[in-house]
Amino acid sequence: MTASAPPTSSATHPEVIAPLLLDYYDAHARRLPWRAIPGDPPPDPYRVWLSEVMLQQTTVAAVIPYFEKFTRRWPDVEALAAAPEEDVMAAWAGLGYYSRARNLVACARAVAERGGFPEEEAELLKLPGLGAYTAAAVAAIAFGKRAVVVDANVERVVSRLFAISTPLPSARKEIRQATCRIVPDERAGDFAQALMDLGATICTTREPRCLLCPLAQHCRGRATGDPAFFPVKPPKKAKPVRQGTAYWMERGGAVWLVTRPGKGMLGGMRALPDDGWKASASGDRAAPVPGKWRECGSVRHVFTHFALELDVLASAGEPASDPTGAGEWWPLDRLEEAGLPTLFARAAAMAIANRSEPFMPD
Ligand code: ADE
Repeated sequence: MTASAPPTSSATHPEVIAPLLLDYYDAHARRLPWRAIPGDPPPDPYRVWLSEVMLQQTTVAAVIPYFEKFTRRWPDVEALAAAPEEDVMAAWAGLGYYSRARNLVACARAVAERGGFPEEEAELLKLPGLGAYTAAAVAAIAFGKRAVVVDANVERVVSRLFAISTPLPSARKEIRQATCRIVPDERAGDFAQALMDLGATICTTREPRCLLCPLAQHCRGRATGDPAFFPVKPPKKAKPVRQGTAYWMERGGAVWLVTRPGKGMLGGMRALPDDGWKASASGDRAAPVPGKWRECGSVRHVFTHFALELDVLASAGEPASDPTGAGEWWPLDRLEEAGLPTLFARAAAMAIANRSEPFMPD
């Protein structure tokens, strides 16, 4: 295909798109633990909702083990509603974007209180912490309602199908309108997941595999000769880099952990004590106890709006007094159960790897 190829019959006939995609889905839908087999009755709304919250900003491969773990431990929305928030936060550790876990508990409690999930998108939207994307996805996938479900995969497929040349994020409104034109009245949930599967497996970010695509004949992006040009990205801004220091203190086979304040980065999660990540490269480091500190290395972690370089310091001996501020001595042989978010799990691993006497669990 060259840049001069004429547009084909194209998405100007939106009614041809849904049947092609649904046929593709019937034959090739990915089998995922939260899905029904195409054509079977819709899956349990609890499982749809939980999976959709987990899948925001997170890959299918990363979500599967968490989804299995959560549904084994909390098989329905009532069980999740009854769970202590800190247990859910700890079980979420490693998935990132931790406000999702707090919202999850609030939403489960509201749903249990009202006796189940509402079926309409507008009613779903009223639940605490449940946003526009999740409301549309649950309405379509769990209740078969016609709803416009647009995630990053759908955004990519649709912007190519219609060759939308406005850069993101301004293009979002246009992409949504274009998606709305091709959503069928029936099987809107299968249709949404077919678009997601197409985006994940064929209409991939780099080197889309157009020869396998059921929509190839209708794709204006392909007709331009450079489908990967779409969606048009905004110029990349370099993320600011913050410096921080985390402290590793041991006493009697336990490490000092704090619980981070509910609001703010990694809010409500257990963590190593740190300096608030406000230091400049040469700034002061207010250690939680006086004494000698050993440098263990540095962990780099990229958040949505900044990158963090977190130096890890380990206390040279056992602190004589408890460190300042609230915290707990957490047994080292149960460190995995603390639910440390990835940043601090890596910092802890670095401190442990740097001990002069390696820690040996029983
Ligand atoms: N990403 C978001 N929702 C999804 C779903 N239901 N199936 C596969 N990938 C997804």
